[in-house]
Amino acid sequence: MDTGKTNFIAGQWCAARDGRTFESRNPANTEEILGIYARSGALEVGAAVEAAKKAYPAWRKTPAPKRGAILFRMGQILEQKKEELSRLMVAEMGKVLVEARGDVQEAIDMAYYMAAFGRLPNGATVPSEREAMFCMAQRVPMGVVGVISPWNFPIAIPAWKMFPALLAGNTCVFKPAEDTPGLALEFVKLLAESGVPEGVVNLVTGFGEEAGAALVEHPDVAVISFTGSTETGKIIASRCGALMKGVSCELGGKNAIVVLDDADIDLALKGALWSAFGTAGQRCTAASRLIVHKAVKAKFRDALVDQTRALRMGIGADPNAQIGPVVNRAQLSRIHSYVEIGRNEGAKLLTGGTVLTESPLDAGCFYAPTIFDEMTLDMRIAQEEIFGPVTGIIEVGSLDEAIHAANATNYGLSLSIYTHNLTRAFRAIDELEAGIVYVNLPTSGAEIQLPFGGVKQTGNGHREAGWMAMDYCTEWKSVYLNYSESSELVRAQIDS
Ligand code: UN1
Repeated sequence: MDTGKTNFIAGQWCAARDGRTFESRNPANTEEILGIYARSGALEVGAAVEAAKKAYPAWRKTPAPKRGAILFRMGQILEQKKEELSRLMVAEMGKVLVEARGDVQEAIDMAYYMAAFGRLPNGATVPSEREAMFCMAQRVPMGVVGVISPWNFPIAIPAWKMFPALLAGNTCVFKPAEDTPGLALEFVKLLAESGVPEGVVNLVTGFGEEAGAALVEHPDVAVISFTGSTETGKIIASRCGALMKGVSCELGGKNAIVVLDDADIDLALKGALWSAFGTAGQRCTAASRLIVHKAVKAKFRDALVDQTRALRMGIGADPNAQIGPVVNRAQLSRIHSYVEIGRNEGAKLLTGGTVLTESPLDAGCFYAPTIFDEMTLDMRIAQEEIFGPVTGIIEVGSLDEAIHAANATNYGLSLSIYTHNLTRAFRAIDELEAGIVYVNLPTSGAEIQLPFGGVKQTGNGHREAGWMAMDYCTEWKSVYLNYSESSELVRAQIDS
């Protein structure tokens, strides 16, 4: 069990000042303490940033193919440790084992993908308007990257953020969510084992208001990458704006699945069940709204309720379990309070709406998969991110109405439509306001080689993964080189 010496700074494991600590508990049994972690603040963050700053010049000069080779090794080591990490993930944040394996796989994919970038073009040569002039633009690293990651994808998301940063030549200070410090610690250990030099990746465990805030405020941190709530993202983005540092925010979602009257209903049901209740609804891509054409609504609704009631709840390690616990007791009561809000707003509860109280699940944070009917666009449960196994049906009468409903939130991460009509599908692709659009697929299931991120209040314009994964942590440097034999000054726009 980890016991407090959980910060990794300049290659050394160390405790927080005065031995301050916090616990990590198993969400399937909140009596079980999994580890004790350093509760870091400005002092520890300062030491970590100093180490990252010191390691930066040498790492920046390390040839990119070598940095890529280290990431390749990380991919191999993650493959070897996949089962171990997946089981730890089940214990620490509760997702079921098959999903935990998917989380680790996403990091493996990202490691191999980014490794290849060590040998791919890093910019462009550009024609000059002047003679004997060579012009190019190249990506350059920014320095120390501060990574603040969430608990719902505790291995995949740190990989999305750190692998591109490292490949580009940045060094990192990593502040993981306080619910998943144990996985962060293992991840950093594996990075060191892969050959990441001392100080290039540093870990500080602790809380957002303490360690996270100190990282945002630190003058030597060039850029912050944050995934979490829109509320916290706005605070971070405004502080980074005031401090003139880079910031990449991946925030909330209020994703929807549209089911049209020509849809394959069985396929749409599978997609809805997976998107609404997979990971107990704790994905930023979760479908918390189901926008269904009135011609197929009764059929879709009744089958969805039956299939939802048949879902097997259980601890994530149980191979039969389809839905595990939510991450902690605070989330459990937050989810339940949203269900109360929905009821008071007049939405009709079809199934769920309760904390599970029978043994042994009462020892953990289990919430029954919940479906509302008669959800309307103005309701808070149709507008606010719940981040739990709660979804609601909105009835529509046409494609126009469906697109309007899908777009009627402040968020824009992932929207999906089920239809076999090509014209309707392409209209939806064109008009849905989201960073990711799916046709005949659930709202979850992004692959790492495509950009991931959202529009509106889901983010601030950056994308994670994909071939632009390095955008957030690199600058462009334009270079002009005059190789003329003449002693003439040739001015751009004037003499050329
Ligand atoms: C997240 O929920 O923050 O598409 C990430 C998906 C996953 C990634 C989710 N590949 O649901």
